[in-house]
Amino acid sequence: MAHIIGSITTSHVPAIGGAIGRGLQQDPYWKPFFDGYPPVRRWLETARPDVVVVFYNDHGLNFFLDKMPTFAVGAAPEYRNADEGWGIPVLPPFPGEQDLSWHLIESLVGEDFDLTTCQEMLVDHALTLPMALLWPGTDAWPVKVVPVVINTVQYPLPSAARVYKLGEAIGRAIRSWDSDQRVVVVGTGGLSHQLDGERAGFINKDFDLKFMDSLIGDPTWATKYSIRDLVELTGTQGIELLMWLATRGALGDKVRQVHRNYHIPISNTAAGTMAIECR
Ligand code: DHB
Ligand code: FE
Repeated sequence: MAHIIGSITTSHVPAIGGAIGRGLQQDPYWKPFFDGYPPVRRWLETARPDVVVVFYNDHGLNFFLDKMPTFAVGAAPEYRNADEGWGIPVLPPFPGEQDLSWHLIESLVGEDFDLTTCQEMLVDHALTLPMALLWPGTDAWPVKVVPVVINTVQYPLPSAARVYKLGEAIGRAIRSWDSDQRVVVVGTGGLSHQLDGERAGFINKDFDLKFMDSLIGDPTWATKYSIRDLVELTGTQGIELLMWLATRGALGDKVRQVHRNYHIPISNTAAGTMAIECR
């Protein structure tokens, strides 16, 4: 049966792609952010994953407001990046792991999760840039990918508790996959940020740090909040932290923190990175 090694959760911001493209990793603005990744990459070198299951929120590239699934699972042979209008370099296509995709879909539908299945899917900065941070400068990705998209864009959103349960169900499904492949779960989004409206620029460091702590000691802590509460606490885009909850749900009870980084701001976002290992 397949094995979940652990998880990596990280913020995503299109400007990261511009910084990578221009080689700004040592620039004083960017260094505290990029310095969060070498320890994670060292852990990945020992973890040797074959597949990554990536929770992220699409931002209008693959799904627009006319058709917005609450939960969508990719089941494509490959996932292409496309120009989403930020001027960031387009990355090579990501190879899919269709056997795991269909196993996840069957398991989740079997557990009464109503999904959208995508046999074609474009992936935006929320998937591509974390991958570029984890495997920099690659022409051919060393892992296969199963994308899982959670709506954080259009009201109404799934509750934090529901998203955590989705993560738990995905954890069960991965562990029941008849394969000896090694799986890392990745979640991208958050932490606190708000890009629009009267509170544009809003960041809540206290909440973010409590949230990161909770993922180790009390992982369902944030599920007690409603979506409204979480938007108030973390901003209209801070709600992307739902991806961290889904990811944590997949890991099970026994975990150990490998590494953590937190830096304010990157673009308009409180940028967090965390690697957790299953014990
Ligand atoms: C920014 C943050 C995001 O989560 C995103 O999807 C786009 C932009 C930002 O801070 O610039
Ligand atoms: Fe985003």
